[in-house]
Amino acid sequence: MTSSEIRTRFLTFFEKRGHAILPSVSLITNDDPKTTNATLFNTAGMQPLVPFLMGETHPDGKRLASSQKCVRTGDLEEVGDNTHATFFEMLGNWSLGDYFKREAITWSWEFLTDTTEGLGLDPHRLYVTVFAGNDMVERDDEAVQIWKEFIPEHRIYYRDSKDNWWTAGPNSPAGPSTEMFYDMTGHLGDLSPKEFEQADEQQQLVEIWNDVFMAYRQEGGEVVGQLPQKNVDTGAGLERVTAVMQGTTNIFDTDLFLPLLNIIKEHAGSYNDRDARIIADHIKTAVFLINDGVVISNTGRGYVLRRILRRAYQSLESIECSESIISQLIHAVIEMYRDLYFKDVNEKQIAVKIKIVATEMDKIIKIIKRGVAIFKKIKDDPNTIITGKFLMDLEQTHGLPLQISQKLAKQFGIQISDQALAECEQLRTEHQALSRQGAEQKFKGGLEKDTPKIRALHTATHLMLAGLRKELGPDVHQKGSNITEERSRFDFTYGEKVPEEVLRRVEQYVNDAIATNAKMGVQLMAKDKAKNSDVVGSFWEKYPDTVKVWTISDKSGNIYSRELCGGPHVEELSEIAQFGMFKITKEESSSAGVRRIKAVLE
Ligand code: ALA
Repeated sequence: MTSSEIRTRFLTFFEKRGHAILPSVSLITNDDPKTTNATLFNTAGMQPLVPFLMGETHPDGKRLASSQKCVRTGDLEEVGDNTHATFFEMLGNWSLGDYFKREAITWSWEFLTDTTEGLGLDPHRLYVTVFAGNDMVERDDEAVQIWKEFIPEHRIYYRDSKDNWWTAGPNSPAGPSTEMFYDMTGHLGDLSPKEFEQADEQQQLVEIWNDVFMAYRQEGGEVVGQLPQKNVDTGAGLERVTAVMQGTTNIFDTDLFLPLLNIIKEHAGSYNDRDARIIADHIKTAVFLINDGVVISNTGRGYVLRRILRRAYQSLESIECSESIISQLIHAVIEMYRDLYFKDVNEKQIAVKIKIVATEMDKIIKIIKRGVAIFKKIKDDPNTIITGKFLMDLEQTHGLPLQISQKLAKQFGIQISDQALAECEQLRTEHQALSRQGAEQKFKGGLEKDTPKIRALHTATHLMLAGLRKELGPDVHQKGSNITEERSRFDFTYGEKVPEEVLRRVEQYVNDAIATNAKMGVQLMAKDKAKNSDVVGSFWEKYPDTVKVWTISDKSGNIYSRELCGGPHVEELSEIAQFGMFKITKEESSSAGVRRIKAVLE
């Protein structure tokens, strides 16, 4: 059975039992700390449903099911073993105060074992765990009673809250769970509780489904009471279920990874499973993150993207595989998931994604080369002492992450003391506090916030002004600007309504410039000199004597915009393309001689 058949079978099974099928939402969570515990990405199918598990009415009813894309980066070091990946899909069914334990367990069992509607798994290879109870919530004997109708009692194991209590964070709906395990070896048979734990540890057993009886509310990690309704929240990892169905012992030898691993195998100088799996998983995750709008940066989601790409690069290096296979891998990911997640993605958009990944890889290659030279020099001069400050400098001035410095030091046989490491961490904490303070001050005067989307709109607005001047003449000047995540609002001097066809040509100008993937460069200049050259600016008087001039230009030296500004901007125009096309949605009068435009990226 292919992974795609499994996904469909699951959704059809629950649709037949009265569930509305929800599409997968973006990997990016909404930022409300009350409901999501501020995770960066959706890490479970239930996450977008939190408000409804807490009691809000869901427009699609009380029975829901989905296959939700998820990213978990908590187990980064485990990626490459048999069962861990950063990107995965979670099959889930929910009851929002409708059915409870009996239906949830019965349907899980039916789906796993039924040969016509379900997966037809051998019941003799299945085991279940239930919640053992604690001071707050009693042992789940109700679940045991129901399970006994399907599975011999000695194959039901009790586990405490470490394993069989589920919550999406300290402030979240929560509840006891029952988990289903499958014997990957086919010969485990009956197991004592101790043997069961051992088999699980050795990955002879794999957990394939988790039913949570979500009836409680947690605050600050403590159960504070019951929810207004008793919910069911279940999750089955599609990758693991596929491994089981395709008769392998790990999630990678399945149709969800093999197309990628085959490409890697073909090009690797010295192949090993672990590195190949890391590359396949990380590139897949990167494609999904970029597709959902994550932009590489040094904080938050953008930093996760940067980190996984750097890890992917290190693995490519370790199996002697050229990073030129990246474009093949990205194409392969998109084709594998095209019908579900990349229906409308065209070649041009794929090229943008490839470019983003390749640019990041180039960056890390340059950084590592510099690092190698530095550590070589240190080796030749044994008097050099590596201090925390030195490591921090490598990171700050040369962009060499501590992790890579450590690796290089090891490679050159150079010692880094624990004291130096601790000192480096301390400096990093101090630096972060300072830059946060700086950022707060910086945005007071300029943009209200600095997010990737706002940067993108800001740079696009520069292009728009250039386009307007090209169409309407050099008397067009900026009068005001306000940019939010949703739109750019821009006021400029012009005496009459701007014709529709001119607006379309300005849009075209902006989108064409974006498509060339020109770069945004910044230069410090004496204000007088900037004023006398071809720099566009308004409010000159508000700027200090030395000003920042931002120029958008492509490889062949064509200049698309040159403007005085405090920033911040994107580095490359491909960062704008991720948010869609530039569109002018409104043109109206603002005051006498001043027009107002609203524009979006969509
Ligand atoms: N929310 C539960 C999980 O992720 C089903 O395991």
